[in-house]
Amino acid sequence: MSTPTMDDAAKVLADPTAYADDARLHAALTHLRANNPVAWVDNPPYRPFWAVTKHADIMAIERDNTLWINEPRPLLATADADDMAQEMLQAGGGLRTLIHMDDPQHRVIRAIGADWFRPKAMRDLKIRVDELAKIHVDKMVAAGGECDFVHEVAVHFPLYVILSLLGLPESDFPRMLKLTQELFGGDEEEYKRGTTLEDQNAVLLDFFGYFTSLTASRREHPTEDLASAIANARIDGQPLSDLETMSYYVIIATAGHDTTSATIAGGLRALIDNPGELQRLQQNPQLLGTAIEEMIRWVTPVKEFMRTATADTTVRDVPIAEGESVYLAYVSGNRDEEVFDDPFRFDIGRDPNKHVAFGYGVHFCLGAALARMEINSFFSELVPRLESIELAGEPELASTTFVGGLKHLPIRYSLR
Ligand code: HEM
Repeated sequence: MSTPTMDDAAKVLADPTAYADDARLHAALTHLRANNPVAWVDNPPYRPFWAVTKHADIMAIERDNTLWINEPRPLLATADADDMAQEMLQAGGGLRTLIHMDDPQHRVIRAIGADWFRPKAMRDLKIRVDELAKIHVDKMVAAGGECDFVHEVAVHFPLYVILSLLGLPESDFPRMLKLTQELFGGDEEEYKRGTTLEDQNAVLLDFFGYFTSLTASRREHPTEDLASAIANARIDGQPLSDLETMSYYVIIATAGHDTTSATIAGGLRALIDNPGELQRLQQNPQLLGTAIEEMIRWVTPVKEFMRTATADTTVRDVPIAEGESVYLAYVSGNRDEEVFDDPFRFDIGRDPNKHVAFGYGVHFCLGAALARMEINSFFSELVPRLESIELAGEPELASTTFVGGLKHLPIRYSLR
C-alpha cells in the first residue's frame, strides 16, 4: 500500500502543546471534520495513526468492539512509551487496567466494580458527596475572595470523593492527595518529590505499599466499600493477583480524579466567560441537569482513546488495514456541526446533548453517574451562594494529549 498523504492540520492531534491552545486545536479539528474526517497522522515520536473526527464515525467504531479492539494501543503514547509498556507487560510487571482489555476478559473484570457505580450505590453516596461539595465551597470562602480555583478547590474534591468510595479513612486523604499528585502531576514541577528516577520509583513504591496493605487488611476484615469488593473478588474461584488488584485501584483513582476536576474547573470558567448563562442558571436552577451535560461536552476532559483494526476495513470509504490504529477525537466529535446546533456556543439549556465525552459501547465510562453527581453537588452548592465572580488572571490549559484541562484558573469572587 502506498503511504497516505498527510494533512498538516492533523498533526495537532499528536502535539501536546496544541491542547493548551483551544483556538489552534479547534481550527484544525473544524478543518478536518469538513475536509479530511479520516486523516492520516505521522508525527514522531508517535507511531502513525488515523484520526477520526466525526461524531458518527467515533460511535460506529466504538459500537463494533470485535472489529475494533483496545489492545495493543488503547491510547496515544510515544513509540518509546508504547514499547516500554509492552515490554513490562511481557515481563509480567506492567499495569493492565480495564482500558487495556477486550472482551471476554474485559467484561469479567469490569463486573467486579460495576455495582459500585450503579444508581443505587450513587444514591447511598450522595450525602457524603454533598458534604464534600460544601466543604470545598467553604474553602473558597476561607481563601478570602481570591484563589487559583484549580489548585485550591478543583483537584481536591473529586479525589476525596473517590477515596471515600474506596473506603479509605479520612486521616489518609492528605497523604493520598500528595502521592497521586507526585505520581500523576505530569509536568507540574511543584508537585514532584524529586527529579531523579529513584525519586519517582520511591513514590511508586509508597503507592504500591499503601494499596498492598489495604488489600491485605480488606481480605482479613472485609468492609462495605469498593476496596473490599476489589480485594475479595474471585475469578474462577481465584482472587485477583497483586498486579491486577493494583491496576484496579489505579484506574479508579486516576480515571475518577483529573477528569472530574477538569470538568468542574472548565465548567466554572465557561460560566465566567458567559455571564448571561450564569445568570440564567441562577434564575433557573432546574437547568442544572442540562448545564452539567453542557459543561462535560464543553470541556471534554478525555481527549482521546484509540482502537486497532482486527481486519482490513474502511471508515468513510478510507481503507484501513488490519493492525492500524484509529484515534477517536472526542474533542472534535463534541463540536460536530452535524450533531450540535451552533457547537461553539455554551448553552446551559442544550437539549438534546448527545456528546461522546464518556465514550460509547462496552468501555463507556464506568464512573459517568458518579461524575455527573459530583459536578451536580458542587454547582448546586456554589451557584446559589455566588454573588459575583470574575477572572483574576489568565487561565492556563495543560499540555497533554490525553486527560486534562485547566491547570490554573485565577478567580476573584464574593460568596454568601
Ligand atoms: C467528567 C468526568 C469523566 C469523563 C469525561 C470520563 C470519560 C471517560 C471515557 C471517554 C472513557 C473511555 C470510554 C470508551 O472507551 O468508550 C472512560 C472510561 C472509564 N472511566 Fe471515566 N470519565 C469521567 C469520570 C470518571 C469517574 C468519576 C470515574 C470513577 C472512578 C471513571 C472511571 C472510568 C473507568 C473505570 C473507565 C474504564 C471503563 C472500561 O474500559 O470499561 N470515570 N471515562
